[in-house]
Amino acid sequence: GLDDELKQAIRTIADYPKPGIMFRDITTLLGNARAFRRAVDQLVQPYAGAKIDQVAGIEARGFILGGAVAHQLSSGFVPIRKKGKLPHQTVRMAYALEYGTDEMEIHVDAIKPGERVVLVDDLIATGGTAEGAVKLLRQIGADVVAACFIIDLPELGGADKLRAMGVDVRTLVT
Ligand code: PRP
Ligand code: ADE
Repeated sequence: GLDDELKQAIRTIADYPKPGIMFRDITTLLGNARAFRRAVDQLVQPYAGAKIDQVAGIEARGFILGGAVAHQLSSGFVPIRKKGKLPHQTVRMAYALEYGTDEMEIHVDAIKPGERVVLVDDLIATGGTAEGAVKLLRQIGADVVAACFIIDLPELGGADKLRAMGVDVRTLVT
């Protein structure tokens, strides 16, 4: 993507959270009203008029964007959380990301079988996080229509990995 206005609103922090990581910090984009609106509008645009039942957001940054996207699509919102945070019965998945490993969960009854779901997060790097989220959603019967992100780090291969799983991937800036 070549959206310079969005790109310039994103701050880069070197060596966070570990040496060698160039951390793409979207708090500066979120704090810029024009850029925040522009990002959400662009995330929503392909699904305007599509019947999307649920937006799934990945903790934590995916909650901020996913909530806004769900509102604009008049869909529900389903949180995918780091382990131990959801109160009802869950399914759990271990995953690896660019700078670590963790486990995520979703409520078993968060999606009705066959519901059309769009997954939202701020960034896709290795794709480990998004892959885990798609697997959880499919385990509970979701039809994962697409996954969308503001930022793609294409050299890490995550978007290609998700496409190989049959997910339509959309990103705004590279
Ligand atoms: C970041 C980002 C994505 C994930 C991408 O989340 O928001 O969810 O990493 O990395 P990957 O494509 O290599 O899997 P993080 O786990 O840092 O959590 P946070 O949103 O709570 O900061
Ligand atoms: N998640 C995984 N890699 C990241 C990066 N380089 N910047 C921000 N979030 C990330």
